[in-house]
Amino acid sequence: MGLLTGAVTVITAGHGETARGLTATAVCSVSIAPPTLLVCVNRNGEAHHAIADNGAFCVNILAEQNRPVADRFAGRAGAKGSEKFLGADWGPLVTGAPALGDALVSIDCTIAESVEAYTHTVFFGTVLAVRLGPSQPPLVHFDRAYRSLA
Ligand SMILES: Cc1cc2nc3c(=O)[nH]c(=O)nc-3n(C[C@H](O)[C@H](O)[C@H](O)COP(=O)(O)O)c2cc1C
Repeated sequence: MGLLTGAVTVITAGHGETARGLTATAVCSVSIAPPTLLVCVNRNGEAHHAIADNGAFCVNILAEQNRPVADRFAGRAGAKGSEKFLGADWGPLVTGAPALGDALVSIDCTIAESVEAYTHTVFFGTVLAVRLGPSQPPLVHFDRAYRSLA
Protein backbone atom coordinates (compact mmCIF):
# COMPACT_ATOMS: atom_id res chain seq x y z
CA MET A 1 0.00 0.00 0.00
CA GLY A 2 2.96 2.30 0.69
CA LEU A 3 3.77 2.23 -3.01
CA LEU A 4 0.34 3.59 -3.93
CA THR A 5 1.06 7.28 -4.57
CA GLY A 6 -1.57 9.45 -2.91
CA ALA A 7 -2.65 13.03 -2.60
CA VAL A 8 -2.33 14.09 1.03
CA THR A 9 -5.52 15.46 2.57
CA VAL A 10 -6.82 16.47 5.97
CA ILE A 11 -10.41 15.40 6.64
CA THR A 12 -12.19 17.47 9.26
CA ALA A 13 -15.53 17.44 11.08
CA GLY A 14 -17.23 19.28 13.93
CA HIS A 15 -16.48 22.83 15.04
CA GLY A 16 -14.86 24.75 17.89
CA GLU A 17 -13.83 22.50 20.78
CA THR A 18 -15.49 19.52 19.10
CA ALA A 19 -13.55 19.88 15.84
CA ARG A 20 -11.48 16.86 14.90
CA GLY A 21 -9.38 15.90 11.90
CA LEU A 22 -6.97 13.39 10.46
CA THR A 23 -4.41 13.22 7.69
CA ALA A 24 -5.64 10.80 5.03
CA THR A 25 -4.69 9.50 1.60
CA ALA A 26 -7.59 7.04 1.28
CA VAL A 27 -9.78 9.52 -0.59
CA CYS A 28 -11.31 8.88 -3.99
CA SER A 29 -13.59 10.56 -6.48
CA VAL A 30 -16.77 8.48 -7.01
CA SER A 31 -19.18 10.31 -9.33
CA ILE A 32 -19.88 13.66 -10.94
CA ALA A 33 -23.69 13.44 -10.83
CA PRO A 34 -24.32 13.76 -8.00
CA PRO A 35 -20.82 15.01 -7.10
CA THR A 36 -19.61 12.34 -4.70
CA LEU A 37 -16.34 11.25 -3.11
CA LEU A 38 -15.39 8.63 -0.56
CA VAL A 39 -13.00 8.59 2.38
CA CYS A 40 -11.78 5.58 4.41
CA VAL A 41 -11.37 6.38 8.11
CA ASN A 42 -10.12 4.14 10.93
CA ARG A 43 -12.89 3.56 13.47
CA ASN A 44 -10.46 3.84 16.41
CA GLY A 45 -9.58 7.47 15.69
CA GLU A 46 -11.16 10.51 17.34
CA ALA A 47 -11.94 12.03 13.96
CA HIS A 48 -14.06 9.02 13.02
CA HIS A 49 -16.54 9.78 15.79
CA ALA A 50 -16.72 13.45 14.83
CA ILE A 51 -17.42 12.59 11.18
CA ALA A 52 -20.10 10.02 12.08
CA ASP A 53 -21.73 12.24 14.74
CA ASN A 54 -21.87 15.34 12.52
CA GLY A 55 -22.99 13.56 9.35
CA ALA A 56 -20.59 15.76 7.40
CA PHE A 57 -16.92 16.26 6.67
CA CYS A 58 -14.56 18.51 4.73
CA VAL A 59 -11.71 17.12 2.61
CA ASN A 60 -8.80 19.56 2.41
CA ILE A 61 -6.38 18.61 -0.36
CA LEU A 62 -2.99 19.83 0.80
CA ALA A 63 -0.34 21.86 -0.97
CA GLU A 64 3.36 21.20 -0.51
CA GLN A 65 3.57 24.16 1.87
CA ASN A 66 0.90 22.53 4.12
CA ARG A 67 3.30 19.75 5.14
CA PRO A 68 3.40 20.84 8.82
CA VAL A 69 -0.41 20.59 8.83
CA ALA A 70 -0.16 17.02 7.48
CA ASP A 71 2.25 16.08 10.29
CA ARG A 72 0.05 17.68 12.91
CA PHE A 73 -3.12 15.89 11.81
CA ALA A 74 -1.27 12.56 11.59
CA GLY A 75 -0.47 12.96 15.30
CA ARG A 76 3.25 13.43 14.70
CA ALA A 77 3.50 16.82 16.43
CA GLY A 78 1.94 15.57 19.68
CA ALA A 79 -1.23 17.61 19.26
CA LYS A 80 -4.56 15.91 19.95
CA GLY A 81 -8.23 16.72 19.40
CA SER A 82 -9.03 20.33 18.58
CA GLU A 83 -5.40 21.38 19.35
CA LYS A 84 -4.50 20.10 15.88
CA PHE A 85 -6.19 23.18 14.38
CA LEU A 86 -3.90 25.68 16.15
CA GLY A 87 -1.33 27.50 14.01
CA ALA A 88 -3.25 27.49 10.71
CA ASP A 89 -6.21 29.39 9.26
CA TRP A 90 -9.40 27.28 9.50
CA GLY A 91 -12.98 28.33 8.84
CA PRO A 92 -16.29 26.71 7.86
CA LEU A 93 -17.83 26.55 4.38
CA VAL A 94 -21.39 25.13 4.43
CA THR A 95 -21.53 22.13 6.79
CA GLY A 96 -19.49 23.75 9.58
CA ALA A 97 -16.54 21.38 9.17
CA PRO A 98 -13.26 23.36 9.16
CA ALA A 99 -11.73 24.25 5.77
CA LEU A 100 -8.05 25.19 5.52
CA GLY A 101 -7.53 28.70 4.12
CA ASP A 102 -4.48 27.92 2.00
CA ALA A 103 -5.24 24.33 0.93
CA LEU A 104 -5.20 23.51 -2.79
CA VAL A 105 -8.92 22.94 -2.51
CA SER A 106 -11.47 22.26 0.23
CA ILE A 107 -14.45 20.01 -0.52
CA ASP A 108 -17.33 20.17 1.95
CA CYS A 109 -19.60 17.12 2.06
CA THR A 110 -22.63 15.69 3.73
CA ILE A 111 -22.60 11.93 4.35
CA ALA A 112 -24.76 10.01 1.85
CA GLU A 113 -23.80 6.52 3.00
CA SER A 114 -21.42 4.73 5.37
CA VAL A 115 -20.04 1.23 4.84
CA GLU A 116 -18.11 -0.69 7.51
CA ALA A 117 -14.99 -2.28 6.05
CA TYR A 118 -12.82 -4.22 8.54
CA THR A 119 -11.00 -1.61 10.69
CA HIS A 120 -12.32 1.35 8.68
CA THR A 121 -15.56 3.04 7.71
CA VAL A 122 -15.99 4.15 4.11
CA PHE A 123 -17.94 7.41 4.16
CA PHE A 124 -19.53 8.48 0.87
CA GLY A 125 -19.91 12.25 0.80
CA THR A 126 -22.16 14.37 -1.41
CA VAL A 127 -20.31 17.57 -2.25
CA LEU A 128 -22.13 20.70 -1.04
CA ALA A 129 -19.39 23.29 -1.49
CA VAL A 130 -15.93 23.63 -3.02
CA ARG A 131 -13.38 26.35 -2.32
CA LEU A 132 -10.34 26.61 -4.57
CA GLY A 133 -7.14 27.91 -3.00
CA PRO A 134 -4.16 29.48 -4.73
CA SER A 135 -2.57 27.48 -7.58
CA GLN A 136 0.47 25.73 -6.09
CA PRO A 137 2.24 22.34 -6.08
CA PRO A 138 0.42 19.48 -4.30
CA LEU A 139 1.68 17.42 -1.36
CA VAL A 140 2.06 13.77 -2.37
CA HIS A 141 2.81 10.65 -0.31
CA PHE A 142 4.84 7.72 -1.68
CA ASP A 143 7.00 5.02 -0.07
CA ARG A 144 6.61 6.32 3.51
CA ALA A 145 7.57 9.91 2.69
CA TYR A 146 6.03 13.16 1.53
CA ARG A 147 7.07 14.07 -2.02
CA SER A 148 6.90 17.15 -4.14
CA LEU A 149 5.83 17.38 -7.79
CA ALA A 150 7.42 20.83 -8.14
C1 LIG B 1 0.36 9.97 4.81
C2 LIG B 1 -0.68 9.45 5.76
C3 LIG B 1 -1.89 8.97 5.27
C4 LIG B 1 -2.87 8.49 6.13
N1 LIG B 1 -4.05 8.05 5.61
C5 LIG B 1 -5.05 7.64 6.44
C6 LIG B 1 -6.32 7.27 5.90
O1 LIG B 1 -6.56 7.32 4.69
N2 LIG B 1 -7.29 6.87 6.79
C7 LIG B 1 -7.07 6.80 8.14
O2 LIG B 1 -7.98 6.42 8.89
N3 LIG B 1 -5.86 7.17 8.68
C8 LIG B 1 -4.86 7.59 7.86
N4 LIG B 1 -3.66 7.99 8.38
C9 LIG B 1 -3.45 7.92 9.85
C10 LIG B 1 -4.09 9.09 10.60
O3 LIG B 1 -3.71 10.35 10.06
C11 LIG B 1 -3.64 9.05 12.10
O4 LIG B 1 -3.96 7.80 12.63
C12 LIG B 1 -4.27 10.16 12.93
O5 LIG B 1 -3.51 10.29 14.12
C13 LIG B 1 -5.71 9.90 13.32
O6 LIG B 1 -6.16 11.01 14.09
P1 LIG B 1 -7.37 10.89 15.16
O7 LIG B 1 -7.00 9.82 16.16
O8 LIG B 1 -7.47 12.25 15.79
O9 LIG B 1 -8.60 10.52 14.40
C14 LIG B 1 -2.65 8.48 7.53
C15 LIG B 1 -1.43 8.97 8.04
C16 LIG B 1 -0.47 9.46 7.16
C17 LIG B 1 0.83 10.02 7.72
